[in-house]
Amino acid sequence: MSTGSDGYAIDGDRLWRSLKDMAAIGATARGGVCRLALSDGDRQARDLFARWCEESGCSVSVDAIGNMFARRPGSDPQRAPVVIGSHLDTQPTGGQFDGAYGVLAALEVVRALNDHGIVTSAPIEVVNWTNEEGARFPPVMLGSGTFTGVYPVEQARGSEAADGTTLGEALDAIDYAGSAPMAADRVFDTVLEAHIEQGPLLEREGLPVGVVTQAQGIAWYDITLQGQESHAGTTPMEIRRDALVAAAEVVKAARAIAVEHGPTARLTVGDLRVFPCARNTIPGKVSLTVDMRDPDMQRLESLDELLREAASRAAEGEGVSIEVNRLSRTAPVEFDADVLEAIRRGADAAGIGHMDMISGAGHDACHLARVAPTGLVFVPCKDGISHNEAESAEPEDLAAGCEVLYRVAVERAGVARE
Ligand code: GLV
Ligand code: MN
Ligand code: MN
Repeated sequence: MSTGSDGYAIDGDRLWRSLKDMAAIGATARGGVCRLALSDGDRQARDLFARWCEESGCSVSVDAIGNMFARRPGSDPQRAPVVIGSHLDTQPTGGQFDGAYGVLAALEVVRALNDHGIVTSAPIEVVNWTNEEGARFPPVMLGSGTFTGVYPVEQARGSEAADGTTLGEALDAIDYAGSAPMAADRVFDTVLEAHIEQGPLLEREGLPVGVVTQAQGIAWYDITLQGQESHAGTTPMEIRRDALVAAAEVVKAARAIAVEHGPTARLTVGDLRVFPCARNTIPGKVSLTVDMRDPDMQRLESLDELLREAASRAAEGEGVSIEVNRLSRTAPVEFDADVLEAIRRGADAAGIGHMDMISGAGHDACHLARVAPTGLVFVPCKDGISHNEAESAEPEDLAAGCEVLYRVAVERAGVARE
């Protein structure tokens, strides 16, 4: 295998430049990115990604939920593809690397194969999974979940943004609903995803690569509290049915449940809306979200019960009604032992330090792990900060993770000709 000056087959500078070009789409004043799923920014990012893939000799197809597949042919028409990718959508105040790194590192693998004139035996497919963040259209990892059959297409298209727009409307508006087959009608040889860690462990250990053995489970909830709107000046305190007061109890209970049932449990209220949201009207209605995570399915079950009990108590105490709706639950995932071993082998061969770790975040690889041998590679990010405009990563670490991806892709796809 021919290598660059740093001994790598991939071109870390080219990867960095592509990340910066992509980050310009939806760039925020504070150095982050706002590229919500299926927004105009997402459309521009998709168009740029498709152009880059086509320029690299790939043919691009799109499935019914907008997942994009860029295929570099292999020599053996019988072989199923090695699929590598992540997502181009971001949080509203997101960073430059969450998702984009995994997509562009996958594209860099293809570009490097082209540089070295390598024909793989199995095809390589670079993927951009739709709406991984779930920030605009819940739940999280919706594109990969739909692809793998967890959510029917019509249900996913019906997912509503806060402004009432459905995912289907947004997808059609940017013209990214296609007809490529879903997982039920496809076979993948291997699925790989590279991602920033979004936590502090690799940085703390001074290691450039994490081999992700497991990902924790995630449950998403919508909770609605219904009280009574009334005048702020005339309504005596003792007869109020204030939905926001009850909601405040739910927020505090979520924190307390996680702390008491730790150290692995995580509960977060990240979105809370007050209606009618006027200074001098007692809030009649509040809707809030809960993001619940744990690596153990049993514990997710008991956290579910605890949350429901605490929410009912909070509602009862204030005389308001409550509805708790669990939108989604993704079970904890174990990644494929053979693929993980290939990742360790690839890192060792390139002289790149690595350690095993568990993912706290959800990733598209979690859904794919149910349908194909799947591996997830982490690289460090500064201070472990992500879902934040300040998200930052070192070019050398990003290159190291990409090099590992390249080596694993080559091993799994097989080299037909050099
Ligand atoms: C994905 O971004 C997650 O919430 O884990
Ligand atoms: Mn991500
Ligand atoms: Mn994210």
